[in-house]
Amino acid sequence: MENKNQKYFEINKDTWNKKVSVHIKSDFYDVDGFKKGKTSLNAVELEELGNVKGKTLLHLQCHFGQDTLSWSRLGAKCTGIDISNEGIKNAKLLNDALGLDAIFIESNLYDVPKNVKGKFDIVFASYGVIGWLPNLQTWGEIIAEKLNNGGVFYLIEFHPIVWMFDYLQTPPKLIYPYQNSEVIYEEYKGTYTNKDADIISKEYGWNHGLGEVVSALAAAGLHIEFLREFEKSPYNILPEMEETADGMFVQKENLFPLLYSIKATKAL
Ligand SMILES: C[S@@+](CC[C@H](N)C(=O)[O-])C[C@H]1O[C@@H](n2cnc3c(N)ncnc32)[C@H](O)[C@@H]1O
Repeated sequence: MENKNQKYFEINKDTWNKKVSVHIKSDFYDVDGFKKGKTSLNAVELEELGNVKGKTLLHLQCHFGQDTLSWSRLGAKCTGIDISNEGIKNAKLLNDALGLDAIFIESNLYDVPKNVKGKFDIVFASYGVIGWLPNLQTWGEIIAEKLNNGGVFYLIEFHPIVWMFDYLQTPPKLIYPYQNSEVIYEEYKGTYTNKDADIISKEYGWNHGLGEVVSALAAAGLHIEFLREFEKSPYNILPEMEETADGMFVQKENLFPLLYSIKATKAL
């Protein structure tokens, strides 16, 4: 089923390769601060995933590796995968510059069974990953397959309601379905770290509702420990958000959640 999406994957890969060169120099990713020891992880995932010391961790869609390497600094034995060869190249450079021991592999999510050996104590993915995947059933099966017995899958992600808006219009307009099997195409100048960057982002994506995400994990045999929804986001993802004292962002009207997290386990 993934074959018919190959064209979309290629275009997304090209866009992400271009984004990496902008992101790596951005204030948003603050690579200098990161190199000096600042974690790129947020309080919510640090608290909810808990102690990773001595555990093997597979990071799906790791971008240029900062979160992967943040888990490495906390003592996890990490492997990061991403479709973007530029992302993986820079992740390896960052790993070497910091003298860490993470492994980075260029791979489409759907090719993980072919490209990544072994099983892991933890499979992790975060912020902006689900929407690049046409098929969640296979996604769930891959996660279950890559977990050791007793292993944990943890996801922290933007809420599907957030993806229903077109932010290229001001004010943002509710135009996309909550869930759909049809591909959504967007083309715009810049990227989320630098709206005026000299790149054109061409993106094919898929909206998946919470039911679909949870059901894909359950159908793959995982036990859902929790599904939580949050009104605060560490990222300023919508226009006109307000910053809170703890450095998070909220919407004035607070009408819908901005994030959700899922913890699921594989039986012993
Ligand atoms: C928004 S980023 C993840 C962000 C991450 N939390 C961070 O800030 O570092 C999404 C990532 O998914 C990757 N990606 C998109 N489609 C993919 C696919 N089919 N397989 C693997 N990675 C993919 C992109 O290259 C990108 O690095």
